[in-house]
Amino acid sequence: MDLVVVSNRVARAKANEPMTGGLAAALLPIVEKSGAIWVGSSGKVSSTLNKDSFIEVEPLGKGALALMDLPAAHYGGYYEGFANSALWPAVHSRPDLIRVSQGDYQSYREVNAFVARALMRFHKLTTTFWVQDYHFLPLGAELRKLDVTNPLGFFLHTPWPARMVIAGVPHHRELVEAMLSYDLIGFQTEEDCENFARYLKMDFGLEVNDGVVMSRAGITRVAAFPIGIDVESFAAMAQRAVTNPSVSRLRKSLGGERLAIGVDRVDYSKGLVNRISAFDRLFEMEPSLKRSVSLLQIATPSRGSIEAYGHLQDELAKQVTDVNGRHGEVDWTPIRYISKGYSQAVLGGFYRTAQVGVVTPLQDGMNLVAKEYVAAQNPADPGVLVLSKFAGAANELETALLVNPHDIDGMARTIAMALTMPVPERRMRWEKMMTKLRAGTIHRWFADFVEALEEAHAATRPPDLTASAARSLRTASGAFLH
Ligand code: G6P
Repeated sequence: MDLVVVSNRVARAKANEPMTGGLAAALLPIVEKSGAIWVGSSGKVSSTLNKDSFIEVEPLGKGALALMDLPAAHYGGYYEGFANSALWPAVHSRPDLIRVSQGDYQSYREVNAFVARALMRFHKLTTTFWVQDYHFLPLGAELRKLDVTNPLGFFLHTPWPARMVIAGVPHHRELVEAMLSYDLIGFQTEEDCENFARYLKMDFGLEVNDGVVMSRAGITRVAAFPIGIDVESFAAMAQRAVTNPSVSRLRKSLGGERLAIGVDRVDYSKGLVNRISAFDRLFEMEPSLKRSVSLLQIATPSRGSIEAYGHLQDELAKQVTDVNGRHGEVDWTPIRYISKGYSQAVLGGFYRTAQVGVVTPLQDGMNLVAKEYVAAQNPADPGVLVLSKFAGAANELETALLVNPHDIDGMARTIAMALTMPVPERRMRWEKMMTKLRAGTIHRWFADFVEALEEAHAATRPPDLTASAARSLRTASGAFLH
């Protein structure tokens, strides 16, 4: 099998460079080790996309990275437009923030069709294509239009929301119908699978039986594959990071003060405003904690040209200034707010320094920061994870202190509890979480998905099927799609 992984964002970064988002961080080690080709956006656009020069391929561990320029005329409508102003708010259950136009949708479809054509360069008889995330919901259908009969898998890193919410995207039916061209659709949690199955039932009258749905497009398996991290290597990296200059400087600056840490892209799904309000509340409720604990919030700017993100950046800047102004002292800053990204290696050291990890998104597919925080801890004296119930990670990390991120008082009380938790309880909770993380590593996720994809494909299409025979089989497999 020759594996081609496709995502909008890719990571070129090594451990000492910042990385954007959980998807890139998760895929980097598996591409490096598995020898896959990872195809994604170069971040550049071009209006003269020449057949030979718009993709550059470079080695990445045992695998390769293929960076592709995208069409200038459609990039904005695709990325800032449909993907991040219609789909992202919808999948994070913020239909109020959906901004959509027919032009943006057209651009999204054009870019998906363009990427499908570009992928033909990597198409062999033995190729398996694995498409990542909401940027490319219809990419599989575009590949099928090009007579690709190879295994096609799709994994959604975000949640799949309730039917009423996704129905807020005017093109939801076309998109879900296109998704059924994949042999396997993977979600982060069982709840996402259930939401998807309910959608299929209500909108198309299709039943998902034992994780299998039959439609006009063929047979598709639907299953949950909770994404993980490389636990042992993250733990080792965090341990080594204590000697990193930024980590040493952080430790020195604390002078006995305790630290809570949050690390997020500035995104409305991350619950940052509520988190800072919870710290505000904490210092009101427990004034004795002033000078004895602060929050280090690393808030990496993200998608800044989209209005909702610009507003959030402004709101957070005001809020942090206000909280620091009211509670701060000449020698103490309650919220250390940093608007830049750090490498995984440095973050590992920061996590290990912090007694409390605060991961409180309003909605999150998984949230790998939660898993990294746990992996980074010192086993003899581990910190406490305060985790939102609405992050996919809460399904596995049940011994974190789970919170409702809308309940500001509740979060403040839980953070106070985390700060006073005795060592035996911290260890007991941490060990249980580590057991979960070791059982569900990124390598397991990768192997499970690829195996399930091969099986799903083999079960639906004989290996030597020609393209046209596959098409007629798909059509003959029934007009289940209304
Ligand atoms: C989330 C998405 C990823 C995305 C990342 C960073 O993790 O699921 O697909 O790459 O955010 O967002 P960006 O828009 O900067 O790629």
